[in-house]
Amino acid sequence: MILARGCPKPNAEAKRRGQMRILDTVGYAQTREAKRAVNDLYRPPAPQPKTPVRSLLRVLRQGDGDLLSLVPIDAYRKPYTYLGYSRRSILLVNDPGIAREILTDPLEVFPKNDLMVGALEPLVGDSIFVSSGDRWRRQRAMIDPAFSQLRINTAFASMQAAVDDYEDELDRRSESGEVFSLDHAMSELTADVICRTIFSRSLASQTAREVCDSFTEFESSVASVNLRQLIFGKPWADVRQPAAVLDACERIRRHIGDLVDPRLDGGDPAADDIIEAVLAARDPETGEGFSREELIDQLGVFFLAGHETTASVLTWAFFVLSQREELKRRLRAEVAECAGEDTVGIQDVKRMAFVRNVFRETLRLYPPITFIPRVASEATRIGRYRVKKGAMIMVSPWTAHRNALLWRNPDRFDPDRFDQNRFDPNRLDAAREEDKGVLMSFGLGPRVCIGAAFATVESGLILARLMRRYDFEILDPGAVRPVARLTTRPAEDIQVRVRRRAGGE
Ligand code: HEM
Repeated sequence: MILARGCPKPNAEAKRRGQMRILDTVGYAQTREAKRAVNDLYRPPAPQPKTPVRSLLRVLRQGDGDLLSLVPIDAYRKPYTYLGYSRRSILLVNDPGIAREILTDPLEVFPKNDLMVGALEPLVGDSIFVSSGDRWRRQRAMIDPAFSQLRINTAFASMQAAVDDYEDELDRRSESGEVFSLDHAMSELTADVICRTIFSRSLASQTAREVCDSFTEFESSVASVNLRQLIFGKPWADVRQPAAVLDACERIRRHIGDLVDPRLDGGDPAADDIIEAVLAARDPETGEGFSREELIDQLGVFFLAGHETTASVLTWAFFVLSQREELKRRLRAEVAECAGEDTVGIQDVKRMAFVRNVFRETLRLYPPITFIPRVASEATRIGRYRVKKGAMIMVSPWTAHRNALLWRNPDRFDPDRFDQNRFDPNRLDAAREEDKGVLMSFGLGPRVCIGAAFATVESGLILARLMRRYDFEILDPGAVRPVARLTTRPAEDIQVRVRRRAGGE
């Protein structure tokens, strides 16, 4: 338990003004005034954690593939905890130091988890997201340059073009007053960004649209199967996928092949896009490039890892912003200050600190990759736990980011906690020095997300432009509830209406 570390002692003046320091539930010192300020902070939707047995019963009864419902209440408080009711042991890790050790793993004791690898293999083969050891090192060295800062600067024009077109679409929806799904809207927009930045094709093209639709099918059917295997399966057992999932994988790979082939045979002129960078990549030792199949594997990963993740965080960010006038006001003021009514450029996005803090705080409360799974390839120890060979290790951004031992007011949406320049000892509700947590939404260590900078710039642009131009009205905010499937998503579509703002550029 963290006890009031770093907080100044109450002085006579504070006592006189009735600002006696009090201890909150985890022992942080607070003035009454600060406590009131905390109560003003928004508490966005989260599931009510239950005991382990109740969690298991809920999972089995509901069968909706929601991994969040497996997480018992203890997991939110302890540095690491066993989920004790599965056939193979599952260790959930909250502690940032231990998480970093597992994800850094210089002895390669904790490779990518067999269940995840098995589930993704029909789609992305043995590509960068799932591979291990020397094979992964070779792939990472070859792909890193495709996501360099220079590339992102070039890709930014394609991101802007995708947002231009999406604004036309939202203008139409604003005029018609139609109700639509916020999560689908974000998936469409981020899929278009990925298509344009990877292939220089907009989602409007037939093949790109078909890839996107098949991904939606893949994502909706893949997760629920794995949850039963997670609880009842043996380590390294075959992961069997239903025919619908395998069909979707086959279709996606065929369509990606259709997009790759014209580049390989010179039918399409070279463009300054990500596929061109991956085509140009050479193995540092052998000097060889990727084969056609390997290219399809890697491009499948960019689609899979790069579009639903960003769609997830944007969905939650727009939802939270739609609920808080004060956050909207501050965000719009910053956009006006940095970009006025002009096009939002990449340098503007980099200057928008509040927009970035909203993005980070959303990543904290709704990490798109809810759990980062590994497997113990041999018997070992983690902290004080003995870990059997085959144990499933779940580094858990979801619970680590909501752990009251690591974050102050963990369930409150407080973007200012990430504001490095604003530490104010009189504002204990926003005392960043009290936050001991580490943001692990992009992973940690050598396998940290290759697209983190890409996603940060893309999300900043989308938040700035769409919040400047529209109001988002959520029809039933009380019904919104997060679940963890392939990413952290709302259990049901969030129904929304947009309205073009008067004077909103
Ligand atoms: C907000 C958006 C995103 C989030 C939260 C996110 C999260 C993550 C996380 C947690 C990992 C580490 C997984 C692990 O260690 O098992 C990862 C890896 C990866 N991500 Fe992202 N990602 C995002 C966007 C993107 C984008 C836009 C791309 C590319 C277009 C991308 C491509 C990848 C790839 C290729 C890896 C594997 C890296 C490796 O193993 O070397 N991601 N991502």
